[in-house]
Amino acid sequence: MQEIENILQHITQGVYVVAVADGDKTNAFTAAWVMQVSFSPLLLAISINPEHYSYQLLQKGGVCSVNVLSREQMHLAEHFGKSGMSDKMSLGTWAAALTGAPVLQESLAYFDCKVSHEISAGDHQIVVCEVQEARQLNVGVAMCYSDTGNMDKSSDLY
Ligand SMILES: Cc1cc2nc3c(=O)[nH]c(=O)nc-3n(C[C@H](O)[C@H](O)[C@H](O)COP(=O)(O)O)c2cc1C
Repeated sequence: MQEIENILQHITQGVYVVAVADGDKTNAFTAAWVMQVSFSPLLLAISINPEHYSYQLLQKGGVCSVNVLSREQMHLAEHFGKSGMSDKMSLGTWAAALTGAPVLQESLAYFDCKVSHEISAGDHQIVVCEVQEARQLNVGVAMCYSDTGNMDKSSDLY
């Protein structure tokens, strides 16, 4: 039988940096499990491992930005895919969105969001967020999750 992680590569997904804020505490993590789930209201769902530091800030602060990475931004996907870094937000240029969530100025586009509600899903939490504002910042082709190989070390998790 083929490896499940190879077959899952056929489910097309983008790569995003989800940035969170709780007051003056900020953080960001790389995410592939992001999708639009409603037109009106405009809702995005983010599937997040509740052990991530970003989850604590997302729950307490209630805001986030979803920043779309381009194919050329593999270094950003890798950096924000790491945990336990004290200076994680020192990479990239950040500005505050309307909600107070940090926005990555190098991204192709961003969605500024407020948390609506949460649903449990196995070892992750699906955080459903209402989009407050969205803007295109740069021009390029969006990165695909399949371009990242085993950057997230997920082959160990099945
Ligand atoms: C390409 C890629 C995709 C990822 N997708 C997700 C995801 O959708 N959800 C998630 O919870 N973690 C995802 N991760 C893992 C987190 O980015 C990673 O665990 C990060 O270190 C968490 O950061 P934090 O603990 O500082 O919040 C992904 C990592 C990579 C490299």
